[in-house]
Amino acid sequence: MKKVTVTSLREMKSHGQRITALTAYDYPIATLLDAAGIDIVLVGDSLGMAFRGESSTLGVTVEDIAYHTRAVRRGVKRAFLVADMPFLSSHGGLETTLNNVRRLMADGAEGVKIEGATPQLLGAIARLTEAGIPVMGHIGLTPQSVHQLGGYRVQGKDDDAARRIVEQARALEEAGVFAIVLECVPDDLAEKVTKNVTVPTIGIGAGAGCDGQILVITDLLGLGDGTPPKFVKRYADLRGVISDAVAGFAADVRHGAFPDAAHSYGPTPRRLKAL
Ligand code: KIV
Repeated sequence: MKKVTVTSLREMKSHGQRITALTAYDYPIATLLDAAGIDIVLVGDSLGMAFRGESSTLGVTVEDIAYHTRAVRRGVKRAFLVADMPFLSSHGGLETTLNNVRRLMADGAEGVKIEGATPQLLGAIARLTEAGIPVMGHIGLTPQSVHQLGGYRVQGKDDDAARRIVEQARALEEAGVFAIVLECVPDDLAEKVTKNVTVPTIGIGAGAGCDGQILVITDLLGLGDGTPPKFVKRYADLRGVISDAVAGFAADVRHGAFPDAAHSYGPTPRRLKAL
């Protein structure tokens, strides 16, 4: 079991080995992802939607990410553990950003992910990476800007928008990020970005030309209750599995079939009548 590091991730890109990444919000899932050899585990602010049923990621706080990072940390030994910087947590000036990053790293994150590549964010990212903090960029569809983007939609469709994404990727590389998430961009654009930067690109809804892929774990497992985006491939139907299990429990309890002798503590020598 070789620990994944920013160096090994970069080597994977140069050797053409695809990087696997998934989100996790809790201990049991974290142990399973780590045992399966997933390379990057992200405590994403997607937890607002995937875990708490909210309509966006905007309600997630640094405190929330810290709480889930502590749980996931206990389950991850090999993967590189990244914590998301939630809405506005990188916009309050360098000192506030540093304090937020310090908080997440104290709780076990090995790196942080920052959405966007505005000049202000690029400056903050450069300062963080100079300070030795691994930062993952995130461009294309950046869900924290959902209201500005007018919804969760594919980005970089026209020439200007595509050029901006290519430039943002280069600027992020320049600022020292160790990887870049490309979310919801056409696959030819993602491939171009991937060829244009030396750091790994991790795609979500960005086609097969990226250096790696990430999905939200509840989407992959079929745990969500809505219709997932087009790019999601469901590898399991855990909603079905859990519904059957819960219905089985309820039926057994109602019919007196649970608990049975095998799941009960039998009588002891003491005499109940005497009590
Ligand atoms: O919050 C998240 O889970 C993410 C991934 C989807 C990349 O940002």
